[in-house]
Amino acid sequence: MSKQDTLNLIEKDRKQLHPVYHPKSHIDPLVIERGEGVWLYTSDGQKILDGMAGLWNVNVGYGNEELARAAYEQMKQLAFTSNFAGMTNLPSILLADKLASFAYEGLNTTFFASGGSEANDSAFKTARYYWKRKGKPGKYKVIARKGAYHGVTLAATFATGLEKYHTMFGPAIDGFVHISAPNPYRFDGKLEPNETIGHAAAGLLEAAILREGADTVAAFIAEPVMGVGGVIIPPDDYFPLIRNICDKYEILFIADEVITGFGRTGEWFALKHWGVKPDILSFAKGITSGYAQLGGIQLSDSIRETIESASESEAWMHGYTYSGHATACAVGLKNIEIMEREDFPSRAKILGKRLLDGLQTLKEFSFVGDVRGLGLVCGVEIVSNKEDRTPDPGMAMRIFKAAQAHGLRSRPLGNTLAFAPPLAITEDEVDEIVKRLGASMDGIKI
Ligand SMILES: Cc1ncc(COP(=O)(O)O)c(C=O)c1O
Repeated sequence: MSKQDTLNLIEKDRKQLHPVYHPKSHIDPLVIERGEGVWLYTSDGQKILDGMAGLWNVNVGYGNEELARAAYEQMKQLAFTSNFAGMTNLPSILLADKLASFAYEGLNTTFFASGGSEANDSAFKTARYYWKRKGKPGKYKVIARKGAYHGVTLAATFATGLEKYHTMFGPAIDGFVHISAPNPYRFDGKLEPNETIGHAAAGLLEAAILREGADTVAAFIAEPVMGVGGVIIPPDDYFPLIRNICDKYEILFIADEVITGFGRTGEWFALKHWGVKPDILSFAKGITSGYAQLGGIQLSDSIRETIESASESEAWMHGYTYSGHATACAVGLKNIEIMEREDFPSRAKILGKRLLDGLQTLKEFSFVGDVRGLGLVCGVEIVSNKEDRTPDPGMAMRIFKAAQAHGLRSRPLGNTLAFAPPLAITEDEVDEIVKRLGASMDGIKI
C-alpha cells in the first residue's frame, strides 16, 4: 500500500472513536494489515515484534490456521443461537464442561459474556444476588485496589482504581472502596517492625472491612498480577492471607484473571501459584487468544446453589445476547486444545524466566529502577533517580517510542513499560525483545 493510501486511511479512521480516546494519543496510528506468530506488519511496510500480544491476549500468536478453521466450521454449522431460556448450543456446553474440569476446583459453573468488563459486571451482580439470597441484602459493597483495572462498564469503571478513568464519568457508583495493593517496589502503607509487605497489605483489607462493616461488604476483587496498574507481582504471603480474611468475614473473593488466566503467568490460572482459590473467577482475553470476543465468570458450587434453588421471583435475571456465543465458544475450545497440546503454561514459565533474566540486565541503565515478572508478563519501571525511586513517565514514553522505531511494541503504563508477548514466542524472539529494548535505551540521551 502506498504512503498516500495509508494517510487516506488514517484520515478516514477519524470517523471512529478509539478506546480511551484523546486526539493526542491517536496521532499517526499504525495501520496493522497482517500478523504472523509474534510479528505484526503495517500498511507502510514496517515489521513489529508485538511484545504485548495485542492487549495481553493473543496467547497462541497471530495467523493461527486451526483457530481460523474452527471459527469457519462453526460459522457454517451454526454461527449463533440464543442461549436464553430453553435453548443452548454444543460449543458452549463443551466449553463450560472443559472449564469446570481444569480451572479451580469447586468452581464448576460458567456464565459466558463477551469480554472482561462484562465478566466483572456479572461478578458484582452475582455477588449482590448471592447475599440477597442468603438473607443478607445489606452486603453490597465491593472492595477493590488502587491501581486496579477491571474494565469500563459503569460498575467496572468504579471498581477500577485508576482515577483518570473516573474523572469525567462521575458521580461514582455507591459501594466501591479502594485499598492499597502490595507493591514490593513502592508499598505506600505502614509496616510494623519485621512485618512483611504482604501481611501489611492484607491487613488493609481487614481494616477496610471493619471500617465499612462486614455486614455491608459483598466481595473483594483483585487481579492476581496487577496489569494496567503497572505489572505488580504480589508477595507470596498476600493472597493466602486475603483468602483467610475473606473467609473470616464472609466476603466473596473475585479473582479478575482477565490478563492472568489461560497460561500467561506460567500456570493455567495465576492464584494457583499461591495455592489459593477464588469464589468467582473472571476470565476473558486469553480464552480465545483474541480470535473471538469471549469472557465470563466461573462460580463456586455454593453460589451456583443459590441460583439453582431460587424461586421464580428471585431468578438470576442476567444475561447477554452473546452469552454462550457458539462461534466464540468453538474458538475458545480449539484455543484451549492448542494450548494444552503445546503446553503453553510451561512455555510461559520457561520463556518468561528467560525474558525476565534478559530484562534484568537492563538495570545497568541509570533510569531502570525495577524489573519484575511472572511467566510471560513483565514490567520495567523507569525512574529519574534510583535512590528515591522517583517515577519518570516522560522517559518511559520516550523509551516506548524509541522501541517502536526499533520495531518493538510494548505498552507504557505510567512509568512502567509492560511486556506480555504471545506465549508462542520462541527463545530467539525473547532475546530479540531484550536486544531491541536495550538498543532503544542506548540511543536515549539523558
Ligand atoms: C484485569 C482486567 N480486567 C478487565 C479488563 C476489561 O476487559 P475488556 O476490555 O475485555 O472489557 C481488562 C482489560 O484490559 C483487564 O486487564
